[in-house]
Amino acid sequence: MTHSYDHYLQEILIPSDALQQRIAELGARISADYADSPGLMLVCILKGGVLFLTDLMRHITVPHEIDFLAVSSYGKGARESTGKVRIDKDLTSECEGKDILIVEDIIDSGFTLKFVKQLLRARHPNSVKIVTLLDKPSRRTLEIAIDYTGFEIEDKFVFGYGLDLDEKFRNLPFVGVVRKEALIEE
Ligand code: IMP
Ligand code: MG
Repeated sequence: MTHSYDHYLQEILIPSDALQQRIAELGARISADYADSPGLMLVCILKGGVLFLTDLMRHITVPHEIDFLAVSSYGKGARESTGKVRIDKDLTSECEGKDILIVEDIIDSGFTLKFVKQLLRARHPNSVKIVTLLDKPSRRTLEIAIDYTGFEIEDKFVFGYGLDLDEKFRNLPFVGVVRKEALIEE
């Protein structure tokens, strides 16, 4: 069977069942760590974090709220951060006194998360922590503490499971590596 993504896919890096198994583990750990939290709020970073959020929250047994934050970095190409981050959609909930857990798809340079963490900290929550599905540590420019990581990956451009390739293919149930040739062709 052929798929619309075949042309872009070099290999499947993390298959669906491995993602789901790891997400269940993260959910169990987070549930234990926040067992006594009076106000857990998951803050999903749009758009990439959406699939991860909806799967992760099903494994979190502690009562919690969810909210969404959209940010974008600007100035350079679509595939690299610049350090300049802008808020496109802010939270609708108050942060004060809450235990905030930022839910992100991937941490690359670290610029996005550093910005988001500082932004939320200034709103006087009780705590701010980070869960990321993927981490590319070799790409880090800014040091940032990550509290929960799904998978550490090499410096390859990936797509699927929330991550886009020019805004498409976020719906794929797996994380795939993009064919270098397919990126150059465009
Ligand atoms: P950072 O600010 O460099 O850490 O950038 C993180 C953001 O860049 C992520 O939220 C993604 O939107 C995007 N990004 C980084 N690497 C990839 C990738 O391999 N595939 C798709 N998006 C990526
Ligand atoms: Mg993102």
